[in-house]
Amino acid sequence: MMHADSRFTAEQGEAAFKDFLRRFPSFVATAAVDDLRAADYARLDRLGHTYLDYTGGGLYAESQLRRHEELLAGAVLGNPHSQSPTSLAAAALARKARDAVRRFFNAPEGEFEIVFTANASGALKLVGEAYPFGPGGVFLLSFDNHNSVNGIREFAARKGAAVSYVPVREEDLRLDPEQVRTALRGAGDGAPKLFAYPAQSNFSGVQHPLEWVAEARELGWDVILDCAAFAPANPVDALAIGADFIPISFYKLFGYPTGSGCLIARREALAKLRRPWFAGGTITLASVQQEDWYHLAPGATGFEDGTIDYLGLPALSIGVEHLESVGMEVIHARVQALAGWLLEELAELSHTDGSPLARVFGPPGMERRGATIALYLVDPEGRPYDVYDVEAAAARERISVRSGCFCNPGDGEVAHRITRADVESCFSDPSVAITLHECQQRIEDATGKVPNTIRVSLGLASDFGDVYRFMAFAEGYRDRPSG
Ligand SMILES: Cc1ncc(COP(=O)(O)O)c(C=O)c1O
Repeated sequence: MMHADSRFTAEQGEAAFKDFLRRFPSFVATAAVDDLRAADYARLDRLGHTYLDYTGGGLYAESQLRRHEELLAGAVLGNPHSQSPTSLAAAALARKARDAVRRFFNAPEGEFEIVFTANASGALKLVGEAYPFGPGGVFLLSFDNHNSVNGIREFAARKGAAVSYVPVREEDLRLDPEQVRTALRGAGDGAPKLFAYPAQSNFSGVQHPLEWVAEARELGWDVILDCAAFAPANPVDALAIGADFIPISFYKLFGYPTGSGCLIARREALAKLRRPWFAGGTITLASVQQEDWYHLAPGATGFEDGTIDYLGLPALSIGVEHLESVGMEVIHARVQALAGWLLEELAELSHTDGSPLARVFGPPGMERRGATIALYLVDPEGRPYDVYDVEAAAARERISVRSGCFCNPGDGEVAHRITRADVESCFSDPSVAITLHECQQRIEDATGKVPNTIRVSLGLASDFGDVYRFMAFAEGYRDRPSG
């Protein structure tokens, strides 16, 4: 255990690292990533950054950029919608990217389509707007979901389907398996029904059971398994998991490019979707002689509106190869060890009077959870230090953490015991677009509850120095009065 007053000399760092290795020996097998960081993520240490927001966005290796630039500089690439040599070259690179994504997620062509989108939200919208919701149908989802999943309820409700939530438990922000099973068994009258939950929470790091996918499908559900926060540090085997729809954002996996994601969709599930429009690129042909004369292209093509990101897609092949060269098992082992250490240290962190200095929301240990940790730093009376002040103080030390609600209102409301009555005033006048900040302030003023959280998340390039510096920062709050 480190002590803050001493504020960390190099020797203390060395001693802490030795202690860490003793407690988390699995980290040793990931030593190659330390070399990789020095070579390929050198800007982190050169610029003095402690990056702890991998759930917000992953970091690119500098070699990814070089390879992409070399590829673009050495080719002439045209819009892939024709038969010219430049067009064919671009189409070949897009095919290569699709194959790389298939390989990486074990999504073989016979069973799955890879639909390229702008991001995970784009993938979710494709499903939401085209799912055959209707009266008698259901959209069932967990409290723990990103707003881009929550937003699908708008499509469901407009088409007359019921929307139903399964809550998370306050003590660990997990779902109660019995409640999930009851909800899965109870709903629907034969009309299409869609169940959505995240493989890993972007709020608490909780990893929800993947087995629910098969159980739900057995009961006639189509399933969205949101892997946006899970995929960056856990292998995703689409074939083994069997979900109908898996949304992904590639910048969360390998940092570059942004603006590129995909929907991994089972072919038969994709065939159930009814797109609300057609666009250039999505049809085989259309006529202006009659309004319903158009043919949607089969498979992924029918879902990729307009021109695909044909210069960006080759960077996906490069990003996937980069992750393959590191190894997802190595990335997983590394972030699990670092997050395990952080959780243990945070649990021990206290003020001089023995009162806790940190409060973690979600599971206290690493079993069935990933390397995303939601927390408060709290004063000796248990009151949280202002989350935005903490973020700003961290920023002054070039520590990037996330604060706010992380687009996951369900986990936030349960973690902070925000009731319907507490939040009602933020929605009572639909004509006033109240901001998150204003709503949080209103709730805090009225109830004393602080609906706001700090999030620390780890990823490929994280090292012991990152988590050590965060603990040093957190220890700086010892005995500090709040407010
Ligand atoms: C679990 C989860 N789902 C969906 C998304 C949406 O991703 P994007 O903003 O890239 O569309 C995120 C982003 O943080 C996420 O964490």
